[in-house]
Amino acid sequence: MKKAPILIAAFILGSFAVGGVGLVAVTHELTDTKIAENQRAAMMAKLEAIVPEGRMSNDPLQDRIEVSDQKLLGAPVTEVYRVRDGEEPVALILKPVVPDGYAGPINLLVSVLYDGTLGGVRVISHHETPGLGDKIEERKDDWIVEQFNGRSLAEPPLELWQVKRDGGVFDQFTGATITPRSVVNAVKGTLLFVKEHGDSLYATPATGQAEGATDQAPQAASDAAAAEARAQLTTGMEVS
Ligand SMILES: Cc1cc2nc3c(=O)[nH]c(=O)nc-3n(C[C@H](O)[C@H](O)[C@H](O)COP(=O)(O)O)c2cc1C
Repeated sequence: MKKAPILIAAFILGSFAVGGVGLVAVTHELTDTKIAENQRAAMMAKLEAIVPEGRMSNDPLQDRIEVSDQKLLGAPVTEVYRVRDGEEPVALILKPVVPDGYAGPINLLVSVLYDGTLGGVRVISHHETPGLGDKIEERKDDWIVEQFNGRSLAEPPLELWQVKRDGGVFDQFTGATITPRSVVNAVKGTLLFVKEHGDSLYATPATGQAEGATDQAPQAASDAAAAEARAQLTTGMEVS
């Protein structure tokens, strides 16, 4: 048997294999970049919707810290994005977890403006029942906008931060009180956390752990806790 044709065939086959692997690698790289860009744009749109228009001159996704207060924020580690207009602090946007939703944890975005009022609250993901608890989604019901925009720890006073069924001012849903009750409680916890830590949440250098924000109750978060929090933040029904 002649060696030349075998070598030529092997060479052609090898070339196809190398070319194929290269093509897959390049496609993978391009797709990853595109997915990351889309995720970033989607998150920026969510943030812009809950801060005053035209008052975000920084990149809050870069200007972020991590804080830790499981009791008030529902998870071992919570991300905080800072929104600034030049040097002026505008809003803190936190990602607390509602640990006691009807069907599992609910992930929120809560914008607290510099004057202590809420810029807005949105649900990132949840497991609540369609037609009952899922009215917390902005695209399904006005509840989350109507109940929280402009509220603060002063309006209503702290003791009225409850659903009406429990003697507070917040509407529950017909036949579904558990979900709104837990969301109201989590938003109140977020406001209390921001009030407790005040300006240190804006002053802490960006990246990783927020030193200034983790004194007393908030503890330095371990890598394992951070991984757990990230896993928790990415489970459930994503709300687009
Ligand atoms: C299949 C099923 C799904 C439910 N899903 C929810 C839900 O997502 N959120 C909620 O608050 N209540 C849900 N409920 C109702 C709760 O069990 C509970 O009865 C209700 O939250 C209490 O509110 P009420 O006092 O206004 O009736 C569900 C009930 C059933 C049977």
